[in-house]
Amino acid sequence: MDPSLVRIERTSDLPVDGVVRLYRDGGWWHEEDDPSAIPALLAGSWCVAAAWAGDELVGMGRVISDGISDAYIQDIVVRADCRGRGIGGRIVAFLRDACTDSGILWVGLIAEPGTQPFYGRLGFGALEGYVPMLLGPRGVGKEPA
Ligand SMILES: CC(C)(COP(=O)(O)OP(=O)(O)OC[C@H]1O[C@@H](n2cnc3c(N)ncnc32)[C@H](O)[C@@H]1OP(=O)(O)O)[C@@H](O)C(=O)NCCC(=O)NCCS
Repeated sequence: MDPSLVRIERTSDLPVDGVVRLYRDGGWWHEEDDPSAIPALLAGSWCVAAAWAGDELVGMGRVISDGISDAYIQDIVVRADCRGRGIGGRIVAFLRDACTDSGILWVGLIAEPGTQPFYGRLGFGALEGYVPMLLGPRGVGKEPA
């Protein structure tokens, strides 16, 4: 795959099996998850960016936003066999620019462990003193004692 031929486009019309493969490669897919929920998940996102190598979906990311003031970038993922070629960075830059071009200036994300330098190169920095929080068992016990 020649990364210079990969194109990034804004669309919520993605093949469900391609998205499942990406989520699986991202480590987020559980076999009990329901693929039929994916079209609604994409349609309900303010912006979805897809990376295509020909007609193959090799990466994606999406933004949850009101379209005016605040936005959250999430689900940034590149197919495992296509990583390390700049595609993930291009997806984040595309989503970041979609937000700022629309006048949205509060653009946040939760960086998975180890990905801070990746996002840092794209203009994101840690919100010092703030703690990301999550409802439910995965969030419990993560606060400092
Ligand atoms: C994170 C991810 C999208 C990056 O995609 P990519 O196409 O490989 O990204 P790029 O080629 O633009 O950039 C790769 C750079 O980011 C770094 N990087 C990316 N993920 C990393 C991680 N988890 N830990 C450490 N470094 C990471 C790479 O080491 C590389 O650095 P280098 O350029 O100095 O060698 C991809 O690794 C992925 O899909 N990971 C699984 C899902 C995930 O963790 N998503 C992020 C959620 S916050």
